[in-house]
Amino acid sequence: MKIPNFTILAIESSCDDTGVSVVKGDSVLSNLVANQEIHTRHGGVVPELASRAHMSNIIATVDLALKDAKISPSDIDAVAYTIGPGLSGSLLVGTSFAKSWAWAHNLPTVPVHHMRAHILAHFIAPNPSPDFPFLCLTVSGGHTQIVHVHSYSKMDVIGTTVDDAAGEAFDKVAKLIGLPYPGGPLIDKYAHLGNPESFVFKGSKVDGLNMSFSGLKTQVLRFLQARLKSDPQFMETHLHDFCASVQATIVGMLMSKLEQAVVETGITQVAIAGGVSANSGLRKALAQREGWQVFIPPLSYCTDNAAMVGIVGVLDAAEGRYGTLRDTPQPRIPALKPCGSHR
Ligand code: KG4
Ligand code: ZN
Repeated sequence: MKIPNFTILAIESSCDDTGVSVVKGDSVLSNLVANQEIHTRHGGVVPELASRAHMSNIIATVDLALKDAKISPSDIDAVAYTIGPGLSGSLLVGTSFAKSWAWAHNLPTVPVHHMRAHILAHFIAPNPSPDFPFLCLTVSGGHTQIVHVHSYSKMDVIGTTVDDAAGEAFDKVAKLIGLPYPGGPLIDKYAHLGNPESFVFKGSKVDGLNMSFSGLKTQVLRFLQARLKSDPQFMETHLHDFCASVQATIVGMLMSKLEQAVVETGITQVAIAGGVSANSGLRKALAQREGWQVFIPPLSYCTDNAAMVGIVGVLDAAEGRYGTLRDTPQPRIPALKPCGSHR
């Protein structure tokens, strides 16, 4: 389907990044993310601080995004925003702002499922987009899923983590070795300089296409306790090899379930999405996989951003699928379905 030419103001505030974008058709006219540094020193996202930071960032970020896009409010056709899943307070700021701004400008709203947005970011130009059906490994700080994507609106989760998300595993291991939040990108950075075969960690065995990452943290903790006992300088001397080995374990677990999903479904178009799709080890493993057609998003569309919400806004607005001013945040919204209804 050709992407329709709607112009959407998009807002993403599900966690700790305030994202605002203007998307016209499949083109991104502006895409800003106000990162919240404040969580770094707390070792994780503090929900109350995240909502407060969204409140102080959102107006200026919207003004800047419109300015960057050289667009005035009268050029906008609808306001898309993340309705869930995510942190309640964070979602509440984005939802309330989006509905108020839309109401003030007499525009409709498009409530968007965050994980569906990560997947549909693959339809933003100029990158090649997959044909339907395709498989998407969505890996973020809160989710790890293998999704069978039938169309823009029909998506089935065929595998999921039974405990921690892959991003959470990266962040928890990073925290164990004293790295600031979010530790995933730092583990990736140090892994570049290390040997992934230095230490052996075992991936947890789970039936079918499901995965488990919580055991890795315990395994790493025990490993570190033992090593540090005999060699207190272990982390200083082995940081790079340690990070490379942990990263290889997580990537190996993800790739082996993806392999299984391809065999079971017979689908060889494989995409990745979500914050952990920025991981260089995962990107390399996928790029080197022969026999599959792989789709790896640009880094700016991996971690949370509003352009991915905007493309969903365009697609859903074209179908007349809008929300209402009665819509409220849905922190635990389960299915990857469109969130608006036909009008
Ligand atoms: O999609 P995202 O920005 O937010 C959520 O929806 O959760 O994903 C954030 C997660 C964090 O756990 C972060 O550590 C991880 O993505 N992440 C990475 C990398 N960049 C971000 N993990 C490993 N390697 C990276 N390069
Ligand atoms: Zn996300």
